[in-house]
Amino acid sequence: MTAKVIDGKAFAATVREKVAGHVARLKEEHGITPGLAVVLVGEDPASQVYVRSKGKQTVEVGMNSFEHKLEADTSEADLLALIDQLNNDPSVHGILVQLPLPGHLNEDLVINSIDPAKDVDGFHISNVGLLGTGQKSMVPCTPLGCLMMLRDHHGSLSGMNAVVVGRSNIVGKPMAQLLLGDSCTVTIAHSRTKDLPGVVRGADIVVAAVGRPEMVPGDWIKPGAMVIDVGINRLPPEEEGGKGRLVGDCHYDSCAEVAGAITPVPGGVGPMTIACLLANTVTACCRANG
Ligand code: GUN
Repeated sequence: MTAKVIDGKAFAATVREKVAGHVARLKEEHGITPGLAVVLVGEDPASQVYVRSKGKQTVEVGMNSFEHKLEADTSEADLLALIDQLNNDPSVHGILVQLPLPGHLNEDLVINSIDPAKDVDGFHISNVGLLGTGQKSMVPCTPLGCLMMLRDHHGSLSGMNAVVVGRSNIVGKPMAQLLLGDSCTVTIAHSRTKDLPGVVRGADIVVAAVGRPEMVPGDWIKPGAMVIDVGINRLPPEEEGGKGRLVGDCHYDSCAEVAGAITPVPGGVGPMTIACLLANTVTACCRANG
């Protein structure tokens, strides 16, 4: 079998179009422009790229983008003061603090200082609890994008065996909650899992989110399974004339030979994450304005 390639880039463009339609209607009918504030502390190059991309796409769908770039040695008190200001700014409907933060800042404290109604990342402990109990919440963007692609490809996921490889708060755990919400039988696998290949071989849905280049080979994949690759890893530069190739957590060629469907890297999960962030910002804006 050769897998169908799930085109996250094209799907993300359709999501952004819908978001732009909502934004236009909010402006015309209610005189409201949704606003997203992104806070970047320090100069991590990958984070700078993501933040630039988020700002550009926010403006492209007609929303206001507020970027706050702070020095790497910014104090926790100053960062919390900025978040407090954004929490109280009615023109800001979504707040995202780009992670990882420099080591001297307490990530949990910072995230939990964001107004949960503006927490478009869905990382605040209140949103985590709401998601875990099946209540209306802000849903983390990357898992949400993965779920949308799975539903779009397959329709109902009810009764399927899903294995999430990776247990991070950002992807693995919320992904498992969402799949459970769609009535999958869910396993969260991780570095201590016994017989990881055997566990993955039982999956109708594999979501790989471990951050280890090409860790999942094709012979772990059940024929016909759906493979969602969240990893974005750059191989060492010596491989490709100074600029390392981007690869996922799955070995693409061998997995694509066996799977029924697979997301490529790049062009799979990545574009959907930002599209979902824009969608979450519109949702936050609508909820804030009744
Ligand atoms: N760093 C890597 N992924 C994310 C994300 O989804 N949100 C935030 N805030 N930071 C990240």
